[in-house]
Amino acid sequence: MRPLRPVYLAAQAITPFIGKGNPAFIAKGHPEFGKRENPTLEDHMTAAIRLLIERERVDPALIQRGYVGNYAGELFANQGHLGAMVARADARLAGTGFARVEAACASGGVGIVSAAEAIQAGLDVVLVVGAEVQTTKRAREGADFLARAAHYETERALDDFTFPALLTRRAKAYKEAYGLTERDLAMLSVKAYANANRNPLAHMHAVKLTLEQAEHASDENPQFLQNPELKPHLKTSDCSQVSDGAAAVILASAEGVRRLGRSLSDCVELKGYGFAANPLGQVKDLLRFDTAAAAAGEAMRDAGISHKDVQVAEVHDCFTIAEVLMYEAAGFAERGQGAELIRSGRTTLEGDLPVNTGGGLVAFGHPVGATGIKQAAEVYRQMKGLCGAYQLPQRPQTGLTVNMGGDDRTVVSLVLRNAG
Ligand code: CAA
Repeated sequence: MRPLRPVYLAAQAITPFIGKGNPAFIAKGHPEFGKRENPTLEDHMTAAIRLLIERERVDPALIQRGYVGNYAGELFANQGHLGAMVARADARLAGTGFARVEAACASGGVGIVSAAEAIQAGLDVVLVVGAEVQTTKRAREGADFLARAAHYETERALDDFTFPALLTRRAKAYKEAYGLTERDLAMLSVKAYANANRNPLAHMHAVKLTLEQAEHASDENPQFLQNPELKPHLKTSDCSQVSDGAAAVILASAEGVRRLGRSLSDCVELKGYGFAANPLGQVKDLLRFDTAAAAAGEAMRDAGISHKDVQVAEVHDCFTIAEVLMYEAAGFAERGQGAELIRSGRTTLEGDLPVNTGGGLVAFGHPVGATGIKQAAEVYRQMKGLCGAYQLPQRPQTGLTVNMGGDDRTVVSLVLRNAG
């Protein structure tokens, strides 16, 4: 879609993403264990909204509608009905219409689409906030909750860790078809952790990972799947994190930008977007993200750009193999050539096509409902020079995001253009 009425990203906020391995996360051995609890789902959501109001100086009275991206509040935090949670963050939001949108790991992206379409319907200032808390359960139990984003009846039995296994099925097929190596995947993990080491908001900010560690299985980097065919093809370092966190953006029409007291040059424009869904449990081609290709293709076509115009990208690397398939879905690499792009170094911070500059899902983290919103906020932050130690030397002017729900079942892709 190309918005008929221009849509601007006028403000953004990301809370620190935390979980196991992050110094701020309280677990056994932490000096504050037993004395203080980790933030709740509500705490994360509230923190993102308050950043918008206080740091970004968004007057809450101007917000006319809002969407909450969240996948599994009921399961991880015994909390649903998150639209009605928003106004607890600030009394001035009471009375405004807010509702949750759910599309597994694409919940945040679908929230942005909903907001853009609300602006097409005539609204001028819309809030999108995404939040997830997952550390309330052990990873194995959380994996059962996440498996509900697959076709549970037919796919759950693949492995206790269903999603890691679903994507590993693709990694195995891709290795066999195109000669992708453990080293190629390790290079992606190392890129993610190196970027996160420069990003204080990242879950894995303090965790170092070398190529040697990522390439070889070890006690610290186990092959944890039980499915014997898939087990050799996935290590912990290939996986996104079980993270808690939140992100929020304000989308606005040109009139909304004016009401917010900003100029268009303070904003990033949503030039085009793609939104596609395909039947759960019916992946046709393990070697390709068809839905992502359709969504990214629609976004770029409607924005009037090609993949060659993209100067920064945020793609859904829920596992390292997903980043390879995303390179191909976005057109950055030909089919089967994703590994060449990794080896070229072009997608590092020093390259000409930087991807997942803050660490991606693998190392920035993956609080599911926040991820699609964080991706858009990250592109905004690169365009406005707000990325600190991982700021690209030349501020990008055109960016792409690809946010995926399930095993390439629901995908939202955005093309963003610096309006300043
Ligand atoms: N040797 C062998 N096995 C080991 C081991 C070792 N040294 N250490 C651990 N293991 C095994 C154990 O079986 C362990 O499980 P149990 O302890 O419950 O038996 C299992 O590995 C996991 O170990 P931990 O629970 O200690 O691991 P962790 O807490 O550090 O988590 C992770 C690591 C399992 C990789 C976790 O980070 C994870 O699950 N990541 C993926 C999250 C995910 O799937 N997110 C969704 C992505 S999909 C998407 O984005 C689309 C969508 O719509 C859902």
